[in-house]
Amino acid sequence: MALTKDKNWWRQAVIYQIYPRSFKDSNGDGLGDIKGITSKIDYLSSLNIDAVWLSPFYPSALADGGYDVDDYRDVDPKLGTLADFDEMLRQLHDAGIRVFVDIVPNHSSNRHEWFKEAIAAEPGSAARNRYIFRDGKGANGELPPSNWPSHFAPSAWSHESTQGGKHNQWYCHLFAPEQPDFNWDNREIEEDFLKTLKFWADRGVDGFRIDVAAGLKKDLSEPLRDQDTYPGFNNPMTGDDVLFDRNEVHEVYKEWRKLFNQYDPPRVAVAEAYVRPERLVHYSSQEELGQAFNFDLLEANFNASEYKKIIDTSLKQAKLNGSSTTWCLNNHDQMRPATKYGLLPIVDRIRWKNSGGTTHPLDITAGINAAVAGSMLIMALPGCTYIYQGEELGLHEVLGIPEDQIQDPQYLRNLKADVGRDGCRVPLPWSSTGRSFGFGDGGAHLPQPAWFAQYSVEAESNDASSPLSVFRKALALRKTLITEEEITWHETGDDDVLHFSRPNGWHCITNFGGGLYNFGAIGEVIHSSAPLAPSGIYKGHGNLTLGGELAPASTVWIKK
Ligand code: GLC
Repeated sequence: MALTKDKNWWRQAVIYQIYPRSFKDSNGDGLGDIKGITSKIDYLSSLNIDAVWLSPFYPSALADGGYDVDDYRDVDPKLGTLADFDEMLRQLHDAGIRVFVDIVPNHSSNRHEWFKEAIAAEPGSAARNRYIFRDGKGANGELPPSNWPSHFAPSAWSHESTQGGKHNQWYCHLFAPEQPDFNWDNREIEEDFLKTLKFWADRGVDGFRIDVAAGLKKDLSEPLRDQDTYPGFNNPMTGDDVLFDRNEVHEVYKEWRKLFNQYDPPRVAVAEAYVRPERLVHYSSQEELGQAFNFDLLEANFNASEYKKIIDTSLKQAKLNGSSTTWCLNNHDQMRPATKYGLLPIVDRIRWKNSGGTTHPLDITAGINAAVAGSMLIMALPGCTYIYQGEELGLHEVLGIPEDQIQDPQYLRNLKADVGRDGCRVPLPWSSTGRSFGFGDGGAHLPQPAWFAQYSVEAESNDASSPLSVFRKALALRKTLITEEEITWHETGDDDVLHFSRPNGWHCITNFGGGLYNFGAIGEVIHSSAPLAPSGIYKGHGNLTLGGELAPASTVWIKK
């Protein structure tokens, strides 16, 4: 299936996120790799997706799962070579699947050539000016230059001596100490990233996911302004914040857009920016990155009024700047939705996860049903659907990873306040038996639980009612149903039920409640996330013409 030159291909696409280390291992070293991805193209095709987004696969010590990049224009030798990448890209394109790569512009790794040069150089040198080095406070510079916090450590400043530096300066890192922040006030950094984007775009990469997109520009004027917490997601940032979402960052993305538009079709991008909707529209404008992640559903419970409010706001917001909305229920940083939805909304999820799941019971089946119903709902909405690997299997979060096997710096560096994100990054189960459930011959780099057997691709492919089968059918149908980017809400008479339709007569009804919902005769039932109880004339599976009863936590699609 050849790729089209349609420059709007991204507007209502389905994008599947691959976390390369945990997808498929082709050489038995316990780490997923590029050839592993290539070997699973048939599987990706069977999902009917439009694109894959690859989390970082660049050379890295994996201090933050690859978001600590040593070299932006190469492939980690542990994961393959550039030739392997080109071959994977060619085969994915041949299968009609486009490719996004992850760009990490806020920080490099401490093993990047430029950081090594900076540490070896004198204070005030050009090499140090590529990063953010400052003298410390206190009589002997023994205190950090400001009170800036880091996401993964108490302070965003580490003394250079921790990296072998011989002077008495500190360097800034909003994340782990192994992730020094670039100085984006230095033109050399802007030019180098343009070179990186061009490098991948010239190879044929179709899109970019921009990591920490709101973080690049900081207020570096002297004296440094203090800021001891991160502005929360709901903070009305003004564009003059110290560390995030500063107005100047948009100049960077305007320049990137000019580069993207030199290609045919133009390269696309999606911003990871945890900012309020009224600020997000700048990132997603057509003069900048074009699209931004809409993370609102990540925070939401499986609840009709929460979903409805988010859908209405997001669709309105996307219209403001000619973008289209993105929908996602999870990613490599979030607890799996099956687990989130299997817990009562009031549960403190972090505390629960830290306890290994012992503080509160988890309803495994209800969680999976709700997650699959939520996915079918977002697939029916205008905009892009993002699926994170394993979501299509209904995987739950893996709990209780032994402390000595935890890899996430969120736990290791953050005073062990939160066991971190490894539970959603455990290598995928491809088969129900065998070493590492078919992930690779050399075991898996994070421990897989025994229950993975029943959630494997093999097991679920043989079960017509599994999450995988529901996803496959839904995604295949979605391709044939895509229509204008509009929805109409319909009254349901039940606070727990949402019903909307699209201009071509595609109806989607989701029952968020615990009872049955009778949906009457609307048209032909084309798919449902759970079996329907018939009320009226039942004409066999998937052909219910006079309505039916929607089970708790399920979604039905109907074509009028
Ligand atoms: C983004 C990534 C996350 C990473 C962080 C630092 O939020 O999604 O995985 O830890 O950036 O690069």
